[in-house]
Amino acid sequence: MAVSGTDVQYAKELLCSNELVVIPTETVYGLAGNALNPEAVATIYEVKNRPSFNPLIIHTDRLEKVTNYVSSVPRVAQQLANAFWPGPLTILLPKTDALPDIVTAGSDRVAVRIPQHPLTLSLLKELDFPLAAPSANPFGYISPTTVTHVEAQLGDKINYILDGGSCSVGIESTIVGVKNDGIEVYRWGGISLENIKAVVPNVQTYVSQTEEAPSAPGMLKSHYAPSKKVIIGNLTELLGQYPPSEVGIISFQNIFPQVPENQQCVLSASGNLNEAARELFSSLRQLDSLAIKVILAELVPNYGLGRAINDRLARASA
Ligand code: TXA
Ligand code: MG
Repeated sequence: MAVSGTDVQYAKELLCSNELVVIPTETVYGLAGNALNPEAVATIYEVKNRPSFNPLIIHTDRLEKVTNYVSSVPRVAQQLANAFWPGPLTILLPKTDALPDIVTAGSDRVAVRIPQHPLTLSLLKELDFPLAAPSANPFGYISPTTVTHVEAQLGDKINYILDGGSCSVGIESTIVGVKNDGIEVYRWGGISLENIKAVVPNVQTYVSQTEEAPSAPGMLKSHYAPSKKVIIGNLTELLGQYPPSEVGIISFQNIFPQVPENQQCVLSASGNLNEAARELFSSLRQLDSLAIKVILAELVPNYGLGRAINDRLARASA
């Protein structure tokens, strides 16, 4: 079992010796290593069992610290960075040769993020290199939002988990790139379309349709998936088709009296999408651990963080 704690100095020592450390962020826990050391980055791919075509996000506490690795910052990107960093937004920027190609899987853009978590920010402040960090889960599975989640799957493969408690946003960052002055969204996450529109109202925003490497394998149709089958639809109708004893339920607000209580996860009784995002991954994991046959889920309203929640549910069911 991995050791966990809040020792930033110990985490720093490990990272400076090119070993991996799991770090908390406001979105999900990340499996971090020195982005400038190709061996450390290779170990990240290996521990996650991640295909080598899938690039990594680099994390820093100040944009100035990564100027060597980024050749330019478009005006729109700078506006978004000013508004949302530190926070759950990842921006694709043109990369320089100073950053090892293994980080970006050969792409000419690098994904950059300043996360919003006090423990991780204090660690990043201490480092003179950025941290490459994908979500700390085996490739294709649900991202971890607690130390227990991390331990359950990667516990025997890592030295140290920096314990930052439960992730406050609970769903991964929104990934954007700037193209012809428009904003191309590669993954919906903790920053919503409405958040972006409030900052750059006159910039066109569109969702990337590519499903090919290396644009964003977080866009692969099947991803973020539990091992049980997930079916999305109208819960009342679906419950007419499956014996209640054999199902787990992810509902937005309502309880279904015909299903045993421990087999139901209500994302937010009050209908709060931020709370629902925070609960989503724990709920999927909890139901995945039960002796049930199938997980039935309903979509949530498709605005705010609802877009990211619906995106993850769709991929979990693909
Ligand atoms: O919230 C988050 O973003 C978390 C925390 C730890 O920061 N990280 C995370 O990383 O979710 P990961 O690797 O699990 O997902 C990052 C996504 C992947 O789908 C990857 O394909 C995409 O970002 N990505 C990374 N670099 C890219 C690039 N240069 N071009 C296109 N997509 C990229
Ligand atoms: Mg991931």
